[in-house]
Amino acid sequence: GTGQTSTGAGADFVVVANRLPVDLVIDRDGTEHWKASPGGLVTALESILKANDGAWVGWPGVPDAAPEPFDTDGIRLHSVTLSAQDVELYYEGFSNATLWPLFHDVVVPAEYHREWWNAYREINTRFAEATAEAAAEGATVWVQDYQLLLVPCLLRELRPDLTIGFFLHIPFPPVELFMQLPWRTELVEGMLGADLVGFHLPGGADNFRILANRLRGYPSVRLRSTRGRASEIRVDDRMVRVGAFPISIDSAAVDATARKRETQDRAARLREELGSPRVLLLGVDRLDYTKGIDVRLRALEELFEEGRLEPADVTLLQLATPSRERVEQYQIMRSRIEESVGRINGTFGEIGHPVVTYIHRPVPKTELVAFYTAADVMLVTPVRDGMNLVAKEYVASCTDGDGALVLSEFAGAAAELRQAYLCNPHDLDGVKDAIMAAVDDSPEDRRRRMRSLRRQVLGNDVHAWARRFFNTLDATADD
Ligand code: ADP
Ligand code: G6P
Repeated sequence: GTGQTSTGAGADFVVVANRLPVDLVIDRDGTEHWKASPGGLVTALESILKANDGAWVGWPGVPDAAPEPFDTDGIRLHSVTLSAQDVELYYEGFSNATLWPLFHDVVVPAEYHREWWNAYREINTRFAEATAEAAAEGATVWVQDYQLLLVPCLLRELRPDLTIGFFLHIPFPPVELFMQLPWRTELVEGMLGADLVGFHLPGGADNFRILANRLRGYPSVRLRSTRGRASEIRVDDRMVRVGAFPISIDSAAVDATARKRETQDRAARLREELGSPRVLLLGVDRLDYTKGIDVRLRALEELFEEGRLEPADVTLLQLATPSRERVEQYQIMRSRIEESVGRINGTFGEIGHPVVTYIHRPVPKTELVAFYTAADVMLVTPVRDGMNLVAKEYVASCTDGDGALVLSEFAGAAAELRQAYLCNPHDLDGVKDAIMAAVDDSPEDRRRRMRSLRRQVLGNDVHAWARRFFNTLDATADD
């Protein structure tokens, strides 16, 4: 049984993530309110916790905030306070300018600074301590993502009674890249503090097993009780399970929202507002250099230049949520994207009819589903992405079986969504051809592909993901 204990002595199920599911917003006049926080991790985990009423330990998203624990949607939220300097060194620095680029194939250079590392270790300790306080005796704790790689080990030292799961929401890099890290051994040891370490793809799990062996000499074996889906690493006298668990969305909920009359009406109005284009292309991302927003803009520009697409017929709606705005590489990418949007509109737009509509703000979830419903072609072109939930949300929104997904092979989702229009984002001609195929294919071909995608997404939702993870965490060992 999960949930709060009645004594208030802590929760039986605790999620620990860098971010709480809501961000504290402090207005100009000093009043405070909470808003949904960005990213796929929160999207996925929130629906799990709502169904389990446990606790969530995380940062409220602004420096120095220290709100008391409070309940929302049956989840008890415990804040971890970060100073402005903690945010700069641990979050913007080590998490998002060292680990994030390194784990995404160094698509921009990864920076290594000892003071970032020291802060990372210190803040991970703070998260472990906050979790130790929030968890009941014998509780299950689920640690999330690359910002907290040391927490499993630190937490086990504080609370050996806990069952600890860890899940990485981003790619786990090739061994050769991981070996660049001056603190590679400490990070692998940190993760090995968990009872189960989960990745999206089998390749990530394999890389991790190789590193545990190379760096610490720990051997691993396949676990038969999970039908080969997981392995075990022997860490001294403990066994640590390792496996692949591709994350998903609350597919039925998205499908239901898309079917609503209001959503359908909003989608129809949206197309009119955009000038009733023959083809509506859509991009939905955090503004991140891994997402390949620049790739799809270049592809579109060339398709216009070559006359393969008619600017009068086509509109791209690109939603880009602001993200990590103080990190230099994000500023560089934002400038590049905004320059491209301006150039494309300057060249191909008409008065009152831009070809690219670019919104640099988050939009409400129901509105987002209306956009998915309205789109003819969804463009998901990351140069590297752990999973990409946007691709799955789009598929779940195509309730009439129409719509086409252009999907990068370098997104984790490509392993499951084989019937998408797959492309290599480094091959611009290939991206252009995939877009043209998605636009020009016969309605029957598009529908056949979409049927297969919908079967995949509706049959494998986020609840099944969490169940698979906990079944592997709880499964009795092979004899
Ligand atoms: P990441 O976790 O890297 O941001 P994902 O595609 O896995 O990428 O998850 C992104 C999540 O954020 C999705 O649930 C998506 O609906 C949401 N999202 C992305 N862009 C926007 C936006 N512009 N407005 C509102 N929600 C967004
Ligand atoms: C990705 C990461 C999450 C992160 C999210 C938003 O999904 O895997 O851990 O929370 O992006 O990024 P942010 O830095 O704003 O938390």
